Amino acid sequence: VTVRRPVTSLDDFRDLARRRLPRPVFDYLDGGADDERTVQANRDAFARVVLRPRVGVDVSRRDQSTDVLGTCVNSPVLLAPTALNRLLHPDGELAVARAASTFGTVFAVSTSASVAVEDIAGASTMPVWFQLYMANRDATSGTLRRVAAAGVDVVCLTLDTPVQGFRRRDVRNFLTFPPRLGPTTWRAFLSRPLWSWRYLRAEPVTFPNMTHLRERRSSLNPSVSWRKVAWLRGQWKGKLVVKGVTRGDDARRALLAGADGIIVSNHGGRQLDDGIGTLDCLTDVVDAVDGRAPVLLDGGVRRGTDVVKAIALGARAVLVGRPYCCGLAARGEAGVAEVLELLRAEIDRALALVGAARVADLDTTFVGAAPAAPLR
Ligand SMILES: Cc1cc2nc3c(=O)[nH]c(=O)nc-3n(C[C@H](O)[C@H](O)[C@H](O)COP(=O)(O)O)c2cc1C
Repeated sequence: VTVRRPVTSLDDFRDLARRRLPRPVFDYLDGGADDERTVQANRDAFARVVLRPRVGVDVSRRDQSTDVLGTCVNSPVLLAPTALNRLLHPDGELAVARAASTFGTVFAVSTSASVAVEDIAGASTMPVWFQLYMANRDATSGTLRRVAAAGVDVVCLTLDTPVQGFRRRDVRNFLTFPPRLGPTTWRAFLSRPLWSWRYLRAEPVTFPNMTHLRERRSSLNPSVSWRKVAWLRGQWKGKLVVKGVTRGDDARRALLAGADGIIVSNHGGRQLDDGIGTLDCLTDVVDAVDGRAPVLLDGGVRRGTDVVKAIALGARAVLVGRPYCCGLAARGEAGVAEVLELLRAEIDRALALVGAARVADLDTTFVGAAPAAPLR
């Protein structure tokens, strides 16, 4: 009998994913742009903020549910759009959608997902969002019709990727999409036989939501400007969220263009290096938005206390990317569920210990800058 070592933090799921996935796939999931300083900046930003608990507060009944664009989520943690989940586990996005639905949160489906949005929506009992890259007008109109027909109400437009960032790990690992067994990769496949067996037996991993792939090789478009965002606003009857904002002035532009929500994000540090950590620019964005729309944040959220810090600084909720991907790689749907449950338990404990019975009770008095010297 093998005894499973208990999982005690999201970092443990990262270790499990590393042991399950071939190196090129793990590095694709885990890595970031260039020297990965933006990846680190996201984590460092959380580390520099400390909590200032209130004591003497009745926290015997705690509630972390919250409203995000008209949907009540059981916990202020949503699942960020991530490409090609079937590389991580054969059930891919379907497993993620099921875990999100059972848990009671929202999954944002990537343009680059490896399962058709119709099938993902069909497997969900919670609303799913669709993350969009605006390739060109025809392709975008077609995609919008398609996702509306699938029952999607919220489109999340990613603006932080006019061109692809450079990921050294992927280049060094000879990563291709989809990964292929060949002279440069056979060692990696051989080192993870269970993954390789499943991967090679499964249907080939493709991009079933990129309907325009025949006309253009890339879904990225470096000409997307606020004018085109306003055009998109006119095309889309549902709610529009702009993802990838790290400045207050851009948040104002997004609202002017008709956005219903903002995601403070630097794509998990996967595109621009030497970018600002997302928690470090949250206040700038929250002040600019001034209550006119919900502000969400992603990038480096790894702890319940991280979620509490972001909400105290004005975020309505957060999204996680790599953590649920690691859960998926490690244990499929059950792994995603475990990641969500672990964060929920950490948030619950953090709320009790900082003296806030509900997430709505959190405000800036609960956080401070980590002092360089003792407070006087
Ligand atoms: C493997 C992977 C693929 C991603 N693919 C997309 C994508 O297709 N579209 C997008 O807007 N963001 C994508 N992202 C960025 C996430 O939506 C999110 O911003 C980021 O993962 C948050 O940081 P975290 O991983 O530290 O939680 C991807 C992230 C990862 C890790």
